[in-house]
Amino acid sequence: AKPNVCIVGSINMDLTVTTGKMPMQGETVLGDEFFTNPGGKGANQAVAAARMGADVSFIGAVGNDPFGKTLLDNLSSEGIRTEGIEMIPESATGTATIILSENDNRIIVAPGSNNDVTPGAVAKHRDLIKNSDIVLLQLEVPMETIVSTVKTAHAAGVPVILNPAPFQPLPEDILETVAYLTPNEIELASLQNDPLFASIKQKSIVTRGDQGVSFVDNGTEREVGGYRVQVQDTTGAGDTFNGALAAEIARGATLEDAVNMANAAAALSVEKIGAQGGMPTKQEVKTFLQERNNSE
Ligand code: RIB
Repeated sequence: AKPNVCIVGSINMDLTVTTGKMPMQGETVLGDEFFTNPGGKGANQAVAAARMGADVSFIGAVGNDPFGKTLLDNLSSEGIRTEGIEMIPESATGTATIILSENDNRIIVAPGSNNDVTPGAVAKHRDLIKNSDIVLLQLEVPMETIVSTVKTAHAAGVPVILNPAPFQPLPEDILETVAYLTPNEIELASLQNDPLFASIKQKSIVTRGDQGVSFVDNGTEREVGGYRVQVQDTTGAGDTFNGALAAEIARGATLEDAVNMANAAAALSVEKIGAQGGMPTKQEVKTFLQERNNSE
């Protein structure tokens, strides 16, 4: 059977403009192109996990507007189970306004209906959590929803991967309960002053962009290097990593193998525009790894 991954998280429409020059404070610049692409950290991670071969279910919300319908269709077309996604009539679907230049991207998220993903919604769809091999979370839905999801999963004996992005301070019992945290270096630095930092580090898988990944495997610190690729758009690279990692851990891969697959998936994902645009299938990741190993 396929491994089961349940994601509780955000769904956004990404409104991206590419520009040669970032505007300064009070400045208007002429940019290049405008795209709308499906995004949201939760949805991105769901698509990444599905392409890596997992059976993915989603608990989330969209508004009853054109973006909401497009985004639901997009998730269905990736084979993701959407019965846990509510359509909220009074809310606008979440958006992310993204300014993309050659060596920088800046994002503002307007959560909209992602704020309607409540503990009540989690309780209503708790069977999706209980029937999964792993639960994957980010921080674009309310913190009380994160807390109740972690509790529900824990009570059912289902491990949780928490991607602490965008960063917010986390309650101690959450930090204690989750199986893995997947911060980037900036998010890890924000956790540094936490009284639990020593134990947080033991369960952290730290993504370092083109530098690769560092993590602790049974008490031993390990580092996996990054790959040289043709970068088009790094939006969603971290999400690809998380979705692929969850899919691999859910199917029973060792932590080291799961990190290697996720690291390669993330490298491939930056070669196309749009958060979900470059996300590879499992076969594409395997082929990429074979080619790279042969050329070394
Ligand atoms: O991680 C990238 C994502 O963050 C984008 O797709 C955007 O929607 C924001 O949620």
